[in-house]
Amino acid sequence: MQKASADAVEHRVIQTDEVANLDRYQLLTSLVVPRPIGWVSTYGKNGVLNVAPFSFFSAVAASPMLVSVSIGTRMGTPKDSLRNILDQKAFCVNIVTEVQAVHMNETSADFPPEQDEFKRVGLPIGVAANVNAPYVANCPAVLECELFRELNLGNAGSMIVGEVKAVRLDPSLEFKEDSFLVDTTVLKPVARLGGSEYTLLGDILVIPRPTGR
Ligand SMILES: Cc1cc2nc3c(=O)[nH]c(=O)nc-3n(C[C@H](O)[C@H](O)[C@H](O)COP(=O)(O)O)c2cc1C
Repeated sequence: MQKASADAVEHRVIQTDEVANLDRYQLLTSLVVPRPIGWVSTYGKNGVLNVAPFSFFSAVAASPMLVSVSIGTRMGTPKDSLRNILDQKAFCVNIVTEVQAVHMNETSADFPPEQDEFKRVGLPIGVAANVNAPYVANCPAVLECELFRELNLGNAGSMIVGEVKAVRLDPSLEFKEDSFLVDTTVLKPVARLGGSEYTLLGDILVIPRPTGR
């Protein structure tokens, strides 16, 4: 076995199976930061509009374009977003900026499935052109997603992988020269930290990729 370097820090090591569920949650969500927020909008039964934020959200692949959302259970039953995604095989991911941050948080409340959450919170409704899902019409960027895979996570719920069939962009979001790179300083996304903390973009570092040889 490799010997640790002489100057290696003596870490405090926490065995994850020796602490409570809440402690594990707090450790994970305050260390894996900042997390982008996937604000997921779906149609429920009878076309009722549903929207909820998920920060266990990530980019997975570019070709095909895939994103993942991990949706936990509520007292052992699936959350509305998961049920709707599995029923409709579709959802939209709305990118949250400062303008939507308070509304985004309001939609994390435990509303009953028959409650129209767009109406409840006062969100403008958009109808996706490529998948069967609504979107939040004042978000500057929206990913229209089709269900690609569901990975059952046991007690932790399910990880949904969605294929992004179309990307909607507000015309103010111009690309950087000769590219499809969105200017993140114009996008101004909000990201989640631990607990009730969120963050905006901080200083941007530009670090060109090395060639390796
Ligand atoms: C910023 C933020 C991020 C969240 N991330 C997640 C998450 O990744 N997974 C999850 O299951 N719940 C997450 N929640 C809680 C859900 O939004 C909440 O349970 C919501 O009521 C689910 O709504 P639904 O039943 O309509 O699907 C988050 C809440 C907030 C405020």
